Amino acid sequence: MQSFSYYSPTRVVFGKETETQVGSLVKELGGSRVLVLYGGGSAVKSGLIGRVTGSLAAAGLAHEALGGVKPNPRLAFAREALERARAFGADFVLAAGGGSVIDTAKAVALGLGNPGVDIWKFWTREAVPVGCAPVGVVLTISAAGSETSSSSVLTDEETGEKRGLGSDLVRPRFAVMNPELTFTLPVYQVACGVVDIMMHTLDRYFCPILGNELTDQIAESVLRVAIEKGRAAVRDPHDYDAMSELMWAGSLSHNDLTGLGGVKDFAPHQLGHELSAMFDVAHGASLSTVWGSWADYCWETNPARFARYAKNVWGIENADGRAAARAGIDATVDYFRSLGMPTCFGELGIGTQPDEVLHRLAVNCMYGGTRKVGTFRVLDAPDAYEIY
Ligand code: NZQ
Ligand code: ZN
Repeated sequence: MQSFSYYSPTRVVFGKETETQVGSLVKELGGSRVLVLYGGGSAVKSGLIGRVTGSLAAAGLAHEALGGVKPNPRLAFAREALERARAFGADFVLAAGGGSVIDTAKAVALGLGNPGVDIWKFWTREAVPVGCAPVGVVLTISAAGSETSSSSVLTDEETGEKRGLGSDLVRPRFAVMNPELTFTLPVYQVACGVVDIMMHTLDRYFCPILGNELTDQIAESVLRVAIEKGRAAVRDPHDYDAMSELMWAGSLSHNDLTGLGGVKDFAPHQLGHELSAMFDVAHGASLSTVWGSWADYCWETNPARFARYAKNVWGIENADGRAAARAGIDATVDYFRSLGMPTCFGELGIGTQPDEVLHRLAVNCMYGGTRKVGTFRVLDAPDAYEIY
């Protein structure tokens, strides 16, 4: 087994009606002036924002609610929200939504914790954050795992860059997870979430450092449960059992538990981010679009690893390891398609792209040639071009 350092301090409050505890949770953490962030309106329509602000008011906490976060959240909106937070004197940022809202809340919290520094510099690595206001989450979609993760992903619309930041400072202090809040999700978003949960696990599972059996088996369990419950959730987003298992799987898949002792690969994520940056497609859809192609390109780096995945996740028994590996890839891509998720550019709705666009995507993914991505197989721009 390999050495590791594990830090996952988010308090998880899971179950029906847990959003009514938000006021006391913020209060316990010393928050007194709370900026509540939400997205395009689903959380207002469902009555969630009313219940959350009611709980804050009952706890005697001053609060202001600000909506308008878009999927693939924008830097410009995060800057505006930060100004609002400063004007209000916020000392706590509460996200009521999914990854986009949570990541915006993390950006605002970093801004509050680092006065005088333009927040984007944390994403471009020109500055390192030294503080962060506390962030709390009321989760409404099982997908990005941002409710327990150390990441925040923003897009600078002006330059078309979608960038991720990783810092333990931004890990939410609590995550309230009531699976019933996800009942209003469109089936497409449920399916996007299932793909993302699987990909957070797969992007750790396929790595060059092996020998962590418990970690591997946790990852395989998360994958099997996500696959099984994903099928049920897409059939019926009001299935409490399926939606609750997915919700917990989403958090476990991205709080690092499924990769302890290994190193992250995350090349499919980086390839997918460029599709979202250029075409504004949903994150989960970008991942299902690239994964099969990534796997086709990379599996021969370690066929035995893919064969293990096929056996332990898909139940594929085949003495011929290479054939098993291939069957596991096919099973994954077929599964994505069965959920209604795209597995190629045509299905994603962006059509066949000219060579010049494929090159641009590949170069952008490597930040103009200044980096490579992945660890299972390290990829450069020509590799990314082949995969696109
Ligand atoms: O804006 P509203 O009206 O709320 O609608 C949202 C949005 O249109 C809707 N939605 C969310 N909960 C709902 C609901 N609709 C009805 N009922 C509900 N209960 O779903 C749509 C997508 O929301 P979004 O927050 O964008 O989804 P998701 O959680 O998939 O987040 C995606 C973002 O997170 C980033 C992605 O790149 C993308 O920008 N990621 C963040 C990560 C992290 N911070 O750790 C890791 C991930 O790999 C990912 O990169
Ligand atoms: Zn993701």
